[in-house]
Amino acid sequence: MPRGLGLVALGGAAFLGLVACMSVTVPVGEPWIAANAAAPFPVNNPPTPMKVELGRRLFYDGDLSWDGTMSCATCHEQKRGFTDPNKTRAGFDGQPGERNIQTLANVGWFKSLTWGGPQVDTLEHQALIPIEGLVPVEMGFAGRPEGTLAQRLKDQACYPELFAAAFPERGGKIDMDTVTLALSAFERELVSLDAPYDRYRRGDTRAISEQAKRGEALFAEKLCATCHAGPHFTDAALPGVKTKETFHRLASPKDGADAGLARITQSTDDAGKFRTPGLRNVALSAPYMHNGEVATLPEAIRHHYADVTVSDVRLKLSVSDREVVDLVAFLGTLTDQGFVTNPKFARPKAECPVSADPVRATEAENARRQHNSPAGP
Ligand code: HEC
Ligand code: HEC
Repeated sequence: MPRGLGLVALGGAAFLGLVACMSVTVPVGEPWIAANAAAPFPVNNPPTPMKVELGRRLFYDGDLSWDGTMSCATCHEQKRGFTDPNKTRAGFDGQPGERNIQTLANVGWFKSLTWGGPQVDTLEHQALIPIEGLVPVEMGFAGRPEGTLAQRLKDQACYPELFAAAFPERGGKIDMDTVTLALSAFERELVSLDAPYDRYRRGDTRAISEQAKRGEALFAEKLCATCHAGPHFTDAALPGVKTKETFHRLASPKDGADAGLARITQSTDDAGKFRTPGLRNVALSAPYMHNGEVATLPEAIRHHYADVTVSDVRLKLSVSDREVVDLVAFLGTLTDQGFVTNPKFARPKAECPVSADPVRATEAENARRQHNSPAGP
């Protein structure tokens, strides 16, 4: 064999080696989470169709706020991946919000919830925060007479039947327990695993553009994927990772700013650390970061490298403008149109899904209108 050709052959082997290496970042055909994977659930809250249906109704019901004007969906809008377009959002009474609204895609897998709440480790616990929380007041039930919300739901036409169907083992009891169990069962259904990127990972090489493929390689090279890890794009959903390790500081907090994890741990080491957000449908969920201060995806990426005092070596890399564009193209492939338009996650029809007694229904509706006036739901 002429010498030159041998070199070409060698070069080819080296090239193949490189491709093998790159297959870590371009893993088409490797096993990837199934589109219909189900989120894990706690033993005390197995999902049933009736419970999920009840949870959906509660999620969209303004009665969960004190004056009847604000539901979970007021802040968590399906078409935006269950976020809203504001930096922060005021509670029902106008008290300013403190943090940016988070997406609910795949929250069933998250082991700690909210931007800075390592202690909030179940959806059942989390659901009480907007309803009864004081910092900030969102839906406004803190300090109200116990049982007010349950009574209000009992007075609505559909709920007695729905709770009975969802919680036969509790005799259809309507209380904060069953309300939060049902809400959580619905939230665990909010699975977004069929974006173009998922289809690419399952073997459809044409599901994403060449630019997005470059962005995907950069996502690994720039170590984004060490924090935004796994199929939910957050280390907070990885098995075996300690909760505290899923909080990271991208920038030192300014005086008076949100201390993040340190609010809970009271440790100065934790000041300015926030839980890695999932990146599913991130192109739909601007603005970004815990305070919503970052308006666009390119800025969100650059924000990681903006504070030179941050010690995490992963945040000392640099990204060129061209790389940012490729990364943004990759993030765009996480937009799951089926998820944001899925009728199963949308506001339910007004009619009761299980038959209600018409006389009772009218009485209940009148009571509800009276109760909610003048604001109305
Ligand atoms: C006033 C707006 C508002 C309302 C109403 C609201 N939320 Fe939220 N939600 C937020 C904000 C803001 C955060 C981030 C909170 C934080 O980090 O402290 C959040 C976070 C969450 C999270 C955590 C997501 C994650 O990635 O960890 C879940 C789950 C959630 N909300 C569910 C609900 C449910 C269920 C309801 C109704 C009972 C509800 N929310 C009502 C604004 C709202
Ligand atoms: C050291 C862990 C870490 C690394 C590495 C990292 N991120 Fe992040 N990322 C975070 C944390 C934590 C936040 C939220 C910070 C905050 O709210 O102040 C975040 C926020 C984001 C957001 C905004 C999401 C939202 O909903 O507000 C995007 C987009 C993002 N990161 C993309 C990237 C990309 C792309 C890379 C690589 C170039 C990267 N991240 C590298 C931890 C990390």
